[in-house]
Amino acid sequence: METIAVVGAGVMGAGITQLAATHGCTVHLVDVNESALTRAIDEITRSMARFVQKGKTEPAERDAILGRIRTSDTVPELGDVTLAIEAVVEDLAVKRQVFVELDEATPPSAALASNTSSLSISRIAEAVRDRRRIIGMHFFNPVPAMALVEVIAGEASDDSFVDLAFKTARSWGKMPVLAKDTPGFIVNRIARGFYLEAVRLLAEGVAGVDEIDGVMRTHGGFKMGPFELMDLIGLDVNLAVTTSLWERTNRPARFEPHGFQQTLVERRHLGRKSGRGFYTYERQSPLPACPVDRRSFELSPLLADAMLSFSMRAGAVQSARTEQYIFSRILGAVINEAGLAYAEGVASSADIDIAMVTGTNYPRGPLAWADDIGHRTVRGLLKELNNNVGDGRYEPAPLFQNAT
Ligand code: NAI
Repeated sequence: METIAVVGAGVMGAGITQLAATHGCTVHLVDVNESALTRAIDEITRSMARFVQKGKTEPAERDAILGRIRTSDTVPELGDVTLAIEAVVEDLAVKRQVFVELDEATPPSAALASNTSSLSISRIAEAVRDRRRIIGMHFFNPVPAMALVEVIAGEASDDSFVDLAFKTARSWGKMPVLAKDTPGFIVNRIARGFYLEAVRLLAEGVAGVDEIDGVMRTHGGFKMGPFELMDLIGLDVNLAVTTSLWERTNRPARFEPHGFQQTLVERRHLGRKSGRGFYTYERQSPLPACPVDRRSFELSPLLADAMLSFSMRAGAVQSARTEQYIFSRILGAVINEAGLAYAEGVASSADIDIAMVTGTNYPRGPLAWADDIGHRTVRGLLKELNNNVGDGRYEPAPLFQNAT
């Protein structure tokens, strides 16, 4: 079986290590911080114990998996690895230094992958001698449970290393998709509308967090609403992704971080991990923690019509006007971003849909959803929404713009 290296033993590094060792790989796990290594091994051991308890893994198999993991506080000689995955802190200089070390420690045939969420693979590769080997392998948290891996080809990445990442991800039971080296890749970019539209609706006084979440669950079939999901991810992590995406794309209005979320982060209301975010988790079931300053809103007859046909064709159950407004603004923003990403060649339409279903648990791929709604109906909604804002944030993607 193959030998791989994982550098960075945080949440992601530990998850990737467990995944690879479970699929028979010997793993060299490296972290500059000894206690991070101890925590990672403890976490993997606990996780394996749960599998044994549930009867999914034999004790002997657990011991074999744990026995395949070697830890080290510096990058060792890695003459036998086929793949090294970097999962250190999200800092360009630190990542570059790790890749310089990996470039020297590994054979020229080994692929060198970064798990970065927000940095450019091509920029990380700049410091390295052999840039052909540098690719992205973006896993999702929690790694053992989430099927998606976005494989990213940088400007200099060689196809053979991209292929190796695909084969490895598949052999570990994952679903790899190919993404261009653009800000947010596929999922972190297209999911922005899901969160940002929800926060805007709350801040505009259209509805409260539980109502907005409820609309997206009931009418859209989403397993979790945007606020529940932001609380789970962490408001600070979510805000950092939005800010990075906004800055790397020349600050378009549609990605602009919302002051409402910034205030919550400043107050350390970070979601489930701090006991309070958009909801409070002090009681057994979560309660809304952000009261809505309810205000009435005007809809032009044209927008009301566009919303109604969009909602109905999208499969929303019969709903009141406010519910249609919430549903069509949030889903419309997600679908339009998928259309924009497609137009920019970020990924194929099939990969965009696979990524959004497997990476975020959306009930449907946004582009297949748009096909069912009809591109003219999507355009009709987006144009009417756009007429009501001064910043062009709903400007329809070419895919919908050109619908006949
Ligand atoms: P983390 O903060 O839990 O762990 C980072 C680890 O890197 C720490 O243990 C730290 O000691 C170690 N480290 C720092 N400098 C190092 C060096 N020079 N050599 C070796 N180890 C070093 O971070 P987390 O959340 O695991 O994220 C790691 C990477 O994965 C980041 O690039 C992040 O953007 C990305 N990512 C994170 C996801 C998440 O949900 N947490 C999801 C997908 C990607």
